[in-house]
Amino acid sequence: MRDPHAVLLAIESSCDETGVALFRGSRLLSNLVATQDVHAEYGGVVPELASRAHLQHMVPTLKAALEAAEVTLSEIKAVACTQAPGLIGSLMVGMGFAKSLSYALQVPLIGVHHMQAHVLAHFIREPRPTFPFLCLTVSGGHTQIVLVKDYLNMTVLGSTLDDAAGEAFDKIAKMLRLPYPGGPLIDKFAQQGDPHRFTFPVPGVKGLDFSFSGIKTSVLYFLQKMLKMQPDFIKSNLPDLCASVQHTLISALMSKLELAADRLGVRQIGIAGGVSANRGLRQALEKTGAARQWQVFIPDFEFCTDNAAMIGITAYYKWLAGETTPLDALPSARSAW
Ligand code: KG4
Ligand code: ZN
Repeated sequence: MRDPHAVLLAIESSCDETGVALFRGSRLLSNLVATQDVHAEYGGVVPELASRAHLQHMVPTLKAALEAAEVTLSEIKAVACTQAPGLIGSLMVGMGFAKSLSYALQVPLIGVHHMQAHVLAHFIREPRPTFPFLCLTVSGGHTQIVLVKDYLNMTVLGSTLDDAAGEAFDKIAKMLRLPYPGGPLIDKFAQQGDPHRFTFPVPGVKGLDFSFSGIKTSVLYFLQKMLKMQPDFIKSNLPDLCASVQHTLISALMSKLELAADRLGVRQIGIAGGVSANRGLRQALEKTGAARQWQVFIPDFEFCTDNAAMIGITAYYKWLAGETTPLDALPSARSAW
């Protein structure tokens, strides 16, 4: 029987955030994220720079997380890390570091699936859903509707056929001449804009899958047309453009979530992943939830975007289930769970 109050260390390094968290059992002690600023000038994440920045940030972030949690390395009973999916170089740095610690401390390694961890972010703090619940997981690399039957038992019911929701936010933000990552900036400008000023078609994909490339293309053609007539079109209409784009992306997400909830008869509905930080999506879920008598679950902002707390809580449930990872296991850039 595993000690349910053991100190667990978790490391997240799948993309451009270096995250370290410490747990005592399921209680979060500290959760630190070092954001990498090096990518902004390139308009997107540069994988090689991300790997190097993880190397630089890892030890200082670990030290700060240990200090904030008031625990020492010798108290750690397991080391968890993101094993897949993500940028392979970034995963290698994080997993290599986790393996070294696991070996040095002679404690088990626990490899965690990043998308499963986004879903389990709902269990870091109250209110926690009960099973089964539906989770719309929307990040920079994935868009999924997940039926969560238990902590470690989930089925992906639908996913994107092309771009992820976060990718669509970021690519459209780039067209609007906003810096990377543009998702949070669209959110910011949308606050002052009219969501019905411009209309873009919502793709008619069958079933529970999504598609965002059509919206992206229609925004591109629309901007090209308008800029020919009015060169400062973007600048003078930015809030309305952001609000209209955001409204379209959220409508596409919400209509599938409603379909999934109806099909499965599930009324506990959550959102997770970086795009779940979007204020428009959070409000849309609250509104639809109230109208449809759903019980909705929206993680705190710090647990939406990439963080190590979600890796730690997933590792906690794996730890209880006795699921550990051999030291010769490899990270993987792509992996279904
Ligand atoms: O989950 P995450 O931090 O990393 C991945 O696993 O990909 O998600 C990052 C994505 C980016 O595309 C970013 O633009 C988007 O989440 N994002 C947002 C907001 N905050 C982050 N998109 C829209 N509104 C936001 N407030
Ligand atoms: Zn993520």
